[in-house]
Amino acid sequence: MENKKVLEVKKELEKDLVEIDDLKVVNDLKVKYLGKKGLITELNSEIKNVPNEEKKEFGMQVNELRNTFNDYYEKMVEKLEKAELDKKLANEAIDVTLPATKLAVGAPHILEKVIEEVEEVFMSMGFDVIDGPEIEEDKYNFEMLNIPKGHPARDAQDTFYVEGEEMLLRSQTSPVQVRTMLKGEGKTPIRMICPGKTYRRDDDDASHSHQFMQIEGLLVDKDISLSDLKGTMDVLFKRLFGKSSETRFRPSYYQFTEPSVEVDITCVNCHGKGCNVCKHTGWVTVCGAGVVHPNVLRMSGYDPDVWSGFAFGFGAERLAMMKYDINDIRTFYNTDLREAKIFDREDEE
Ligand code: DAH
Repeated sequence: MENKKVLEVKKELEKDLVEIDDLKVVNDLKVKYLGKKGLITELNSEIKNVPNEEKKEFGMQVNELRNTFNDYYEKMVEKLEKAELDKKLANEAIDVTLPATKLAVGAPHILEKVIEEVEEVFMSMGFDVIDGPEIEEDKYNFEMLNIPKGHPARDAQDTFYVEGEEMLLRSQTSPVQVRTMLKGEGKTPIRMICPGKTYRRDDDDASHSHQFMQIEGLLVDKDISLSDLKGTMDVLFKRLFGKSSETRFRPSYYQFTEPSVEVDITCVNCHGKGCNVCKHTGWVTVCGAGVVHPNVLRMSGYDPDVWSGFAFGFGAERLAMMKYDINDIRTFYNTDLREAKIFDREDEE
């Protein structure tokens, strides 16, 4: 015989426990029956008012109601959660037949490309590619290159000093010549190039950058003369700019070479006819060079009566600007991706 109150709740349950599509409604039902003041919860607390002999039967009936509700609740929640997941999966389905979005692919920096090209040319002639420190000692950057303290030539390379007067950000890659010769201990021939960053206290504009890339070269051997330098420069610039490219030397002055020259090549823009780029001369200057000064050889342990050599140094940006028709050096150092597009140009051709 069912208790009257139990019967009421049972009837109510039979009305309520129908298929429901809304998780919130299902949870509301849980509160209605099993919440703090829920109908089944309240039945439970009724038990104390039930005569002893009916307590067991009453308890069993309440339990049955609770089980009925819990079974229903679990089933509903499982059903609704599965429906939710199915909906999500349907929405996120990938249509593999759609065309793919184009990914922006990176390209090597144009300076890197030019440097690699130069490296290849020199490696094919037996030169090593070596590195040197960017924070350099005054001794290597100046003194051992025949530029003593107080020498006016220092002013031309407005230098960033760090830690007083002895350490600096190298203003040229020429100190790597000294370091390489010291390693050779006056005994071994040298063929090396050193591409790397250099720094000068310049105000940045279209043709100046306080940080730029130089490529240094040094060859030390026996019976080396200016004509070896000429031949080497010829090979380099013909390989970079084509067979019709010509090289000429003009006298110049550097403390670490004697004689010193400026290397000109036929203007890449007008092929020597004369234009604005070459100021109508047909030639552009690309490189400083010369025969290694006996003092420099001697200071680094090479006997100038036995050894001779040539050296050169040029800016990688200048070459890249000519090769890729870029007219502002800052293009290499800002991170504007629209400008970086020029870096892809060669690959697209
Ligand atoms: N270091 C020179 C400069 O920055 C360039 C240079 C000239 C390097 C002549 C050399 C050289 O090795 O022989 O202006």
